[in-house]
Amino acid sequence: MRKTIVAGNWKMNKTPKEAVELANSLKDKVNGGAADVVLCVPFVDLIPVLEAVKDTNIAVGAQNLHFEDSGAFTGEISAKMLTEIGVKYVIIGHSERRAYFAETDEIVNKKTLKAIAAGLTPIICVGETLTQREQGVTIELVRLQTKIALQGVSGGAAKSAVIAYEPIWAIGTGKTATNQEAQDVCAAIRQVVKEIYDAATAEAIRIQYGGSVNAGNAKDLFAMADIDGGLVGGASLKAEFEQIVNF
Ligand code: PGA
Repeated sequence: MRKTIVAGNWKMNKTPKEAVELANSLKDKVNGGAADVVLCVPFVDLIPVLEAVKDTNIAVGAQNLHFEDSGAFTGEISAKMLTEIGVKYVIIGHSERRAYFAETDEIVNKKTLKAIAAGLTPIICVGETLTQREQGVTIELVRLQTKIALQGVSGGAAKSAVIAYEPIWAIGTGKTATNQEAQDVCAAIRQVVKEIYDAATAEAIRIQYGGSVNAGNAKDLFAMADIDGGLVGGASLKAEFEQIVNF
């Protein structure tokens, strides 16, 4: 039985002071529920938020990392910098990074390998644009993104990884995929994991849905057979996140 995992993606929101306020306001309400809860916060908020949630079950994640260990990569953050402070998760290949920062599937793969090697749990994002959905290539595209992201990843590591299916047209738009649309793509992701590894790995890997998840739609989405929780953007910055976690 897979444990539901709900991650908040704060994106480029909240100064360290505001981040601590939000983490404090959430921590008693989302602690100890049925789901794993992760707050993926901006880099400068990591340390204060880790401190704020330290005696809770809430884990903290980053929103990106670099695939090299160290060196002349101005503005970048390494896996070891994250693990040393206690970060447990990292979002990789979010569609905003793919779109605005030219992240390719190959880069997503390198980052995934580096995260796993460092002991971080990757939350690997895949998903199609509206045009791609209309062209009928969603499943092929998401299969391809998943296959490339997982190149060289062992079955053991894949079992504890997280994949987030985020249709780009649903992110921040208030438009959500229907429960069935989301389920169909998440099932296809699980199928491709089964083809790469085996049935046990496909059964173990957790697949989230992301894209305008809110308190009103989370329960039904998370009840779908292949949806194991959500990656939540806008609603993770509000008190509503509590209801999503305690679906
Ligand atoms: P949203 O963002 O919930 O605001 O649509 C989701 C995401 O980008 O991870």
